[in-house]
Formats: sequence, C-alpha cells, structure tokens
Amino acid sequence: MGAYRDTYHRSLTDSEWFWRAAAAGVDWTRMPMRILDADRPPFFRWFPDAELNTCHNALDRHVHAGRGETTALVYDSPVTGTVRRYTFRELRDEVAVFAGALRRLGVGRGDRVVIYMAMVPEAVVAMLACARLGAVHSVVFGGFGPKELAARIDDARPKVVVATSCGIEASRIVRYKPLLDAALDEAEHRPGRCVILQREQAPGELRDRDVTWADAVAGAMAAQCVPVAATDPLYVLYTSGTTGRPKGIVRDNGGHAVALTWSMANIFDCGAGDVFWAASDVGWVVGHSYIVYAPLLAGATTVLYEGKPVGTPDAGAFWRVVRDHGVNVLFAAPTAIRAIRKEDPDGARIDRARTKSLRALFMAGERLDPQTYEWAAQRLGVPVVDNWWQTETGWPIAASPRGLEAMPIKPGSPSVPVPGFDVRVVLPDGSDAPAGTEGSIVIRLPLPPGCLPTLWGDDERFVGSYLSAFPGSYLTGDGGRFDEDGYLFVMGRTDDVINVAGHRLSTGAMEEVLASHHAVAECVVIGVEDELKGQVPRGFVVLKAGLEHQEAAPGTVAAELVQLVRERIGAVASLRSVQVVAALPKTRSGKILRRTMRGIADGREEPVPSTIEDPAVLDALRQVLRPS
Ligand code: COA
Ligand code: AMP
Repeated sequence: MGAYRDTYHRSLTDSEWFWRAAAAGVDWTRMPMRILDADRPPFFRWFPDAELNTCHNALDRHVHAGRGETTALVYDSPVTGTVRRYTFRELRDEVAVFAGALRRLGVGRGDRVVIYMAMVPEAVVAMLACARLGAVHSVVFGGFGPKELAARIDDARPKVVVATSCGIEASRIVRYKPLLDAALDEAEHRPGRCVILQREQAPGELRDRDVTWADAVAGAMAAQCVPVAATDPLYVLYTSGTTGRPKGIVRDNGGHAVALTWSMANIFDCGAGDVFWAASDVGWVVGHSYIVYAPLLAGATTVLYEGKPVGTPDAGAFWRVVRDHGVNVLFAAPTAIRAIRKEDPDGARIDRARTKSLRALFMAGERLDPQTYEWAAQRLGVPVVDNWWQTETGWPIAASPRGLEAMPIKPGSPSVPVPGFDVRVVLPDGSDAPAGTEGSIVIRLPLPPGCLPTLWGDDERFVGSYLSAFPGSYLTGDGGRFDEDGYLFVMGRTDDVINVAGHRLSTGAMEEVLASHHAVAECVVIGVEDELKGQVPRGFVVLKAGLEHQEAAPGTVAAELVQLVRERIGAVASLRSVQVVAALPKTRSGKILRRTMRGIADGREEPVPSTIEDPAVLDALRQVLRPS
C-alpha cells in the first residue's frame, strides 16, 4: 500500500499542500492563493479567493489545446435507434449558443435553471450552458412525477425550466410535458419561461410561457465563459433525506473541478484519449459527476446512453456499447449487472474478444453484493471496483484508487478511504470503533473539495442533518466497519433512506402521499430486500375507523395508493405493494417500529424493543411481513 498510504497520509496531514498541487490540474482565471478558508467552522470553503469557469475547463480549454476535433461525447440511444458524436469544438459551439439563448431569456450569473430531461445530448448542453453563464442548474430526474418536481421548483426558484417533451422507456413513452405542467400548477414559484425540446415521439402541447428549444436558439449569439468565484454554486442537486422534503445539495465550481479532475486520474485511471462510460442518468449524482463533468474535465470521451441494460434490445446491450465505442472504463450500478446476469446467467453475450478495450468496471450507487461482484469479475475478466459515495460528496469516499495504486480487492468492500476523506467508524458515544466492530460511518471535517459546502438556502438544516450527531464530523447516514487491513465495509443506511435499483428514495416522501388519501389513518413505508433492485419499498396502512366496510374496501384502497404514489412521486418509486393492516407496531411513546418490521421482512430476527406498546400487534403482522 506504499503509494496509496503515503498519499492518503499527506492528504490529511498537509491538506493545503495536497489540494494546492491538485489545483494545478485546472485552468483558473484567478489562481488560488488561499487553499482553505476555515475561519467559520463547521463551514469550510475551498479556494476562497480563486476564479474560474467550469465550462471552459470542460470544453474550451481542450479546443484551445488543439484537441477540438477529438470526440467529446457519444450519444448512443437504442430506444430511438440513434448514434451521434460531438467533438469538443462542436459541443463547445452548441453550448455557447444555448448559453446565449438562456441569456436572452434573462438568465445570468447566480440564476437557477431547472432541467427536467431525458438522456439526450441537449441535457448535457443545458447543464454546461448554465455553467458557462455562471448560472446554477438543478437537474430533476425524469422518472420523478409532479410532486417531486414541484418541491424542487419551489426550493430552487428557477428563472427558466428546460425540459424534453418526453422520455422513452423500454415499454412506453413517458410524456414529460404534462408532468411539468402539473408540477407548475402545483408549485408556488413561477419561472419566467420554459424551454421545451420537442421530440418527435411525443411533442408537447405548448402554453404561453413555453418556447421550443429550436426557437430559443434561433439567432442566439454564442456566449463566452463568465468567470465565477470558486465558491460560487455550479449546481443544486436534490436528494432524498429522511423526511419528504428533498435536500438541495450545493456543489461549488472550484472544489468540484479540482476534485473531479483528481479523481479521474487517481481513482479511475482515465484521461485524455480514453473513453469513459457511466451508465447512469444525468438526473443522479453519478450522471452529473461521471457522465458530464469529470470525463470532459479530463479531456476524455464520455458516452451518453439512452436505454436500459436489458431489453434494449437484450442482455448484450452494454457489451455492444463497449465494443462500438471502444469504452475503456465502465461505471454502472450493481442492479444493472444483476439485471444482465438474470437474463444471461452464463455471460454468453459477453464477447471478450470484441470488448478488449475495457480496462475496469466501477460499481456504485448501492452495496455491491459479493455474488454480483464474482459474476462480473469472472465473466468480464477485468478488475471490478466497488466505490462508495453519495450525492453529498459528489465523488468517491472509498475506492481502490487505481491511478495511484490498485489495491487488492476484497468482495463486499469498496476498499479504502480515498485521499482527502478522513473516514472513521464511530460508536454511539463518538469514540472510534475497533476494527471489526460496526458503527456509524462519519468523515472528520473539513470535507475535501467537491463535497457539499451547505444545503441550498438552509445552513441550519445542513448543520442539523449532517454535523450535529458527532460534532466535528460529517454523518454519512451509512453504517459499517473497518477490517484489520483498513478496508471499509459499508453495510447500509442507518436512516429511512432507501436505495431502489440504484435510485435513492425517501420512504418519508412516500408516506406523505399515502397519508394524503382520505381513507388512511396511519401508514408506514419500509425498504425490504429485493433480488434484482437491491431494495424495494413496501407500504402498510391502517384505515380510518368505520371506512373498512364502506366506500373504502381495503383492496381498492391499496390499489389506489399504489397508483397515487406512481402519479405523484413517479414510477421510479417502484412501490408495488401496499397492505391494509389492523394496526402498526409502536413503542409506548408512539414511534413506529420500522427497524423491527424491516428485520422481519428481510427474514432476520430482530430483537423486539422492550418499549413495545402491544406485542400482539407485531405478532399479528409477522405473517404479512415475512418474505413469501
Ligand atoms: N423517465 C421516466 N420513467 C422512468 C425513468 C425516466 N428517466 N426511469 C425509470 N422510469 C420508470 C420505468 O419505466 C419503470 O416504470 P414501470 O413501473 O412502468 O415499468 C419505473 O420507473 C421503475 O424503473 P426502474 O427502477 O429503472 O426499473 P426497471 O424495471 O425499468 O429496470 C433496471 C430495472 C435494474 C434495469 C434499471 O433500474 C437499471 O438499469 N438500474 C440502474 C440504475 C442506475 O444506473 N442508477 C444510477 C446509480 S449509478
Ligand atoms: P446517492 O446519494 O443516490 O448516490 O446514494 C448514496 C447512498 O447509496 C449511500 O449513502 C449508500 O447508502 C449507497 N451506496 C452508494 N454506493 C455504495 C457502495 N459502493 N456500497 C454500499 N452502499 C452504497
């Protein structure tokens, strides 16, 4: 562990030296003189006196360096039968014109732009155009419905919304435009204009405030990059917390560019001339960091894939993309590999002779179970590298840093803490847990560059949610342990956040929807294990007294509730099972015993808390909860 150990140690003991050196990988319009502003703990700011433009670093600098004709982005869309390539010069030009169009619509430095789009190149163009103007984008995943979109619009208060008229799923076309209109009807904030990219599969009906993408860019002047403070926000990405209200994770410009550039070389071992494919969605953090920003910052080619790992057309879809575009590094969620393995258990569709370009498969978004790891490692014959992180950090907290030193892999572990992250496993009293003992995973402050400096407009919630449980540390919300060799094992969330097919969702948000039904007196949503998706939500409701035999027959209510969550939060919630029960198990102080319910549902025998109000309620529920 020579190179890794030394670098890790230096990154923590002399962090300013470390990040000053890393900052040399980025073009600045004003070089950082000061590296870390630690004057106002627990708030920290990286590169407080520097200025740069992120879009310049992602596009223009490569054109200026003579790499304008190199491919920057490959759009591969089996669902529309399209493959389109953009050189750095072409992408820069499209971005500059769309930035000009946004400026004409009144968008300037610091203004927010909500982006609600399918996996099309224009989504990347819109993000980078915001970066070019110093505006702040907030991308909302296309699988979310009106309630989630409205909550984000009200919090971000965008000047403009950019949307596609539709998304194309394997089995159906999802019309985004009516979902956007419903969200805007529900939201209190009114954006000035909506730019709609009309897709031929389902063009949207336009309202007064709408302008098509084509009209918006017609005659627009190309905009130059606007230098911004390194500490200015680049984007806000909302993520699920314990309550139904999403958290606006803020990403700054300078720390983000430095950290992602460092990560490409030192973790992913990937640089200019390489082809990087993150099979995620621009609506998630993996898409922000490793479809859009990091590969382009590094001068690599990025692949934007619109489709699923299976069924578009079959379980060989991923390997076809690797072959066609010479992908060197693939990044995907374990659930995608589980879906492929289910359809192609022997890996017959993997043709190693034609996927030779592949050097490594990186996996994140949820726990990489050892079976999935073994299958991928054996069938692909390349290192399979688990890496653990979250929307809040923006880049891996633990991984095998392959560019620095490839660590031996231990299945079930995302290997070791990444330089810059002082990761600890602590017991409830805040002391370090001995190796082998599970506890809460925290990161000692300051978090390295690239991580959230705060929550959008809500310093108080930032401190309350992340920095209060163990003062001086950031609470990740995950539990786990270190082993004797310093490898971290991440075992799962310690809160009510769940991870469904690599999508982070809040059970609290689903409970809010269930509780809004007129027949529901009480409800709970828990995440239970699922072979394919890792976890899926299950809902349990108690009906209001007297309604059971009247207009609200339990079966009807359950079906209505499933539909309601689908309509309000979106199909991505994957809530397929809601059961009507007589009562929910609680403590004497009225807290629902979620953990106990989860344990029984997953087939584990959790100890029943001594504070249980009525053990008979739990006994009655066991049959319903147990896996069939
Ligand atoms: N727009 C609209 N609807 C969407 C959507 C989007 N962008 N993404 C998903 N949905 C819908 C799906 O169509 C599906 O609808 P359905 O209930 O009508 O079938 C529903 O939301 C659930 O989607 P999903 O969870 O993706 O399940 P699936 O059965 O369609 O596919 C997998 C299963 C495993 C193939 C798929 O989830 C997958 O590829 N996951 C990887 C996720 C990932 O990359 N995460 C990023 C972290 S790295
Ligand atoms: P998100 O913010 O959507 O990236 O989700 C972050 C959460 O996903 C983490 O807090 C973990 O619970 C889980 N997660 C992500 N990657 C991993 C991993 N490699 N191993 C275990 N859990 C992971």
